[in-house]
Amino acid sequence: MVSTQAFPTKPFSLELAEELLTNYGSPLYIYQHEHLQETIAHITQSIPYPFTKFHFASVTNGNLELLRRILISGWGLHANTPGDIYLGLTAGFPPQQIVYSGSNLNRAEMEQVLKWGTATLNLDSVSQLDLCCQVYQDVKQQLPRLRLGLRLNLPELTAENRIGVRPEEFPAALKITKAAGLKLSGLHFYRGTGTSATKAFTQVIEQLLAIGKLLPDWEYLDFGGGFGYPYHADGVAFDWQDFGRELTKHLNALGRKIELIIEPGRAAIAGCGTLLATVVSVKWQSGKQILGVDTTVANLSVPSVHGGYREIATWADTNGELYLTDVCGNTTYSRDYLGRNCQLPALQIGDVVAILDVGAYGYAMSSHFLHRPRPPEVLLEGDRHRLIRQREDYSILLNNQLFAQEG
Ligand SMILES: Cc1ncc(COP(=O)(O)O)c(C=O)c1O
Repeated sequence: MVSTQAFPTKPFSLELAEELLTNYGSPLYIYQHEHLQETIAHITQSIPYPFTKFHFASVTNGNLELLRRILISGWGLHANTPGDIYLGLTAGFPPQQIVYSGSNLNRAEMEQVLKWGTATLNLDSVSQLDLCCQVYQDVKQQLPRLRLGLRLNLPELTAENRIGVRPEEFPAALKITKAAGLKLSGLHFYRGTGTSATKAFTQVIEQLLAIGKLLPDWEYLDFGGGFGYPYHADGVAFDWQDFGRELTKHLNALGRKIELIIEPGRAAIAGCGTLLATVVSVKWQSGKQILGVDTTVANLSVPSVHGGYREIATWADTNGELYLTDVCGNTTYSRDYLGRNCQLPALQIGDVVAILDVGAYGYAMSSHFLHRPRPPEVLLEGDRHRLIRQREDYSILLNNQLFAQEG
């Protein structure tokens, strides 16, 4: 079956891809510094509101070198878990530049988060707020200023979602913070993941600001992440300019100074990442090309396990001829497809494929399921490159295992 459909843009030259694979082996995660910087600049410039702070959601990518670059570009960190905070602190983010908006910490974890000096905490239930206030009493002597906010749960704005607090719970929350000698000064809104429809964000602004006013000490609005990324070559992109213009207009009209926090995750980092892999097997069945590559959905779980989609590019000379192709991982797991029903040229063993836009939820969601060690990560700056995480070997599979060896 031959098609002449448009082919996705290659992230860099074949010569460079081959040089990278020769240097670091295959498969291989590559992050392009310039792409990341340009995206960060684009997002930053899109919101003219003067009291805006950007916090990178490291749930999407916890590579320390990338986090360090994001810090240098002027963004703070957004943490979903204590582990995110730990990585952020290790990368050099001062605790004042870390916003935590997670869920369901136990007492020891809450204490750890506070002792790290995390400056802003958005809690997702009144009982988490209560726990935070209790723990605060025990550790407050050692703490700098603490800001508390609530994650909002309102089905018509946040869709069906387990996270967050309803406005009718605000009075109970206010009572708890007041009793602890603290203020409830933040409202956190997370629209839901990966939405490219800009209107889904802009149309809720007015309602959000009205809800914020229900908090007597309201100081900040944290307008979460969930900003979409167009994974399809012809996909709709989130309109940062439109979003920034609308948000600025409404915040300026408030007549009071409210700090705005924005936590982009995938929108900031998806596009700079590529997973390079090599074709190790080719067969044709019922007119379809079945490619076997030397990576697996355990190295990149998003596409087949979570129903996502990533463009796959190759450098093969296409002559305009593309074939219906499945790109299969190197295990027998029934979902081990990196791409299904793709349009690719006829490839040979040894050809290189590039799985695009894997900077977010790529390495971060990889696992040892199927017992394949993880690939390395490499940073590309212009045509200079350097290893920023080593390739794992089989010994990683023995980590923390306790077993009695014979003899
Ligand atoms: C509170 C919060 N902010 C930001 C993000 C990043 O999400 P996205 O990558 O969809 O922007 C997440 C993801 O889980 C989140 O929970």
